[in-house]
Amino acid sequence: MTQVSITPTGQYRHRILSIIEAWELPIFGPVYRCLFELINPANRNFDFPEIIETIKMDQVLTAKILAQANLSAGQENYQRIQSVEKAVMILGISRVQQLLINPRIIAFDQFEKIVFDIMDYWAHSMKTAHLAREIALIMKFEHQEAEDFFYMGLLHDIGKLLLSYVFNRDYIKVVGQSLIAEAGLQGGPRKGLYGKEYVDAEREIFGLDHAEVSAQIVEKMGLKAKFQFVIRNHHNLSLVRGNKDVQALFIADMLAKKQIQVSDLAYILEKRKINTDRIDQIMVQVNKNYLKLFDKLTGLPGAEIPD
Ligand SMILES: [Fe+2]
Ligand SMILES: [Fe+2]
Repeated sequence: MTQVSITPTGQYRHRILSIIEAWELPIFGPVYRCLFELINPANRNFDFPEIIETIKMDQVLTAKILAQANLSAGQENYQRIQSVEKAVMILGISRVQQLLINPRIIAFDQFEKIVFDIMDYWAHSMKTAHLAREIALIMKFEHQEAEDFFYMGLLHDIGKLLLSYVFNRDYIKVVGQSLIAEAGLQGGPRKGLYGKEYVDAEREIFGLDHAEVSAQIVEKMGLKAKFQFVIRNHHNLSLVRGNKDVQALFIADMLAKKQIQVSDLAYILEKRKINTDRIDQIMVQVNKNYLKLFDKLTGLPGAEIPD
């Protein structure tokens, strides 16, 4: 009888798929606590706009609620639910409450730092989400499409969360290799600053990168194919120049990382006739909004946060 051997990367893939299937991903602790208060059954009146805005501050909560809503909608009348506003309407407050008491949801504060600074990671996701929506608007996408970019920005690195959370020790190697790559770039080409080495290290160790894992999570959520395509390719530099959708997310991602100057995006901005002053204004606005969110979640003055 022939023995089927599973390669190490095959084992990672298998584990990744089972995590996605079971939604065993952690929610960011401060968002969890904030939402838990808002949906407390003892409340007589629920503040729905506040509940929705709070859910949209966490990628796992957002992903899980959209996935549930798509599942429910799919049973009767198939339509894709692509906004938290619609998802909460379909599910109702009691289903949202149930999702929060599901033991598979783990608050982040049960863990020490995962591998990278979780606050930086949260800040990056929030900023990319808000920047992506604004960049899409200046790139003349329709209003609804610009909303889609908010979700793409929020979810684009969710695969990084899964990989680092589940394979903590292995992910330390990825971070180490990426740091070495960036250090070696001083005075040389800026390839590493585009995240190339990071995804390469992930592929080498896990057999797939975080963009692919993010795309698989988005697929599980039942969102339309464009979400998967753009998220899967957010580090694919060969697509960045030619594909308008990938470009919008790429610009937002790079600006949120502050790993690129607006002037470095000249080739895209010029082609799309985007004024760099407008980008600067958006950056200022997004940073202000982010400080407000941070303050709301933690009660700490925004000045203390990393940017
Ligand atoms: Fe990424
Ligand atoms: Fe990113």
